[in-house]
Amino acid sequence: MLKNKKIVYFCKECGYESSKWMGQCPGCRSWNSFTEETISADRGKRSEPGQKRETQGPSVLKNISLEQDKRISSEIGELDRVLGGGIVAGSLVLVGGDPGIGKSTLLLQVCRNISARNIPVLYISGEESLRQIKMRADRIGEFSDSLKLLCETNLDTIRSVIEREKPVIVVIDSIQTMFDADIGSAPGSVSQVREATGVLMQIAKGLGIMIFIVGHVTKEGSVAGPRVLEHMVDTVLYFEGDRNVSYRILRAVKNRFGSTNEIGVFEMAGTGLQEVKNPSEYMLDGRPQNASGSAVACSMNGTRPILVEIQALVCHSNLGIPRRTAVGTDYNRVNMLMAVLERKAGMHLGESDAYVNIAGGMKMTEPAIDLGICLSIASSFRDRVIPDDIVVFGEVGLSGEVRSVSMAQQRVLEAGKLGFKGVILPSVCKRTVKETMGLRLYYVSHVREALKVMDDLAGTR
Ligand code: TYD
Ligand code: MG
Repeated sequence: MLKNKKIVYFCKECGYESSKWMGQCPGCRSWNSFTEETISADRGKRSEPGQKRETQGPSVLKNISLEQDKRISSEIGELDRVLGGGIVAGSLVLVGGDPGIGKSTLLLQVCRNISARNIPVLYISGEESLRQIKMRADRIGEFSDSLKLLCETNLDTIRSVIEREKPVIVVIDSIQTMFDADIGSAPGSVSQVREATGVLMQIAKGLGIMIFIVGHVTKEGSVAGPRVLEHMVDTVLYFEGDRNVSYRILRAVKNRFGSTNEIGVFEMAGTGLQEVKNPSEYMLDGRPQNASGSAVACSMNGTRPILVEIQALVCHSNLGIPRRTAVGTDYNRVNMLMAVLERKAGMHLGESDAYVNIAGGMKMTEPAIDLGICLSIASSFRDRVIPDDIVVFGEVGLSGEVRSVSMAQQRVLEAGKLGFKGVILPSVCKRTVKETMGLRLYYVSHVREALKVMDDLAGTR
């Protein structure tokens, strides 16, 4: 074995360090997650012993001014909102997501917008050559001279380039390719990823630079995934989406400077990522007219309501145990709602297969879509059409009661904005809904009542 090197075992899930291999990680309880890595033995002893460190006394909380908490707009509204109103100086933002989802594209667009205002930006890529980045940039548009590119993976070099160039924003694409020569293990291993993030954190906090870090997530979790980094960075954004649909959702899972409920919606086009300003319109595009088994529900994502079409198909089952599937929503919830319909609304669903789908490929788990699921199932079962200008929301409890949901007013306004004519909503929301925008509001307190409203509405057509 090399001198000054030692073998350490790391947990791939949580980064737990141990001198011997273990079957189960004591940190996160996952099995078979330890990998062997060779690291240098004098790691962590960078400051000489006996050398005095500069110390700072404690500060009075009241006297700390927040002036340095300046934000820079990326001019991409969807991203700014997810970040809590812009990029904070000295912050470390991790952007995770599957390969090919558009992380590099999004960050290159951020670089373009910011450098266009003569703010120095440095894009460091360890994955692609300058030519490849240029090819992507050509699809996105014109770039100013304030954006500089660097193809480098050695952290020492990166640190000195950053100190020399003094950029305001740095993008590291990706953290799995970066390495510190002092650590023996290969790039992408747990110790390298952790060390590299630590170095970047020092740079960000020390020089007040905003750093975006790209992190790959693999299905098997075989590479040291960004899980280890999530604790170290200020903000974790996940870029998600399906290969089959063109829109992408940017979600904050951790944010020291804002809420984590917000989502940003983008669409991958030929010229980079485009913002989808009105996701409801996008989600409802191509909705069938006068079809049974379709209901429009409203779900809140942070401060923004999104309308989605819930589709249900209920048909006679030829199997002993009827088949039920839920796409885009919680399977157990659908089963529960079907049991409620059976017991509390007298619908005999026991011999029927049921398929529930959130159209458009979006995932929705907010309980406020319960009533929409119930009505779409009932609509398909009885073959009654819910008029297509009606929006439904409300949580359904086990006794069939329709319970209150948050931000009812915003949901009603969103329905009004998109030209809907009526809303079926919980009666308890009467207190909070002040403005109706001329919509007819049908307050219900039980699923039976909601089914009655549905029948009345279908009868008037
Ligand atoms: P990329 O940003 O390289 O993904 P990641 O960094 O997350 O791995 O881009 C992903 C895909 O987007 C790639 O397959 C090509 C496609 N794309 C477009 O469709 N339009 C465009 O304008 C660009 C730049 C990329
Ligand atoms: Mg990339």
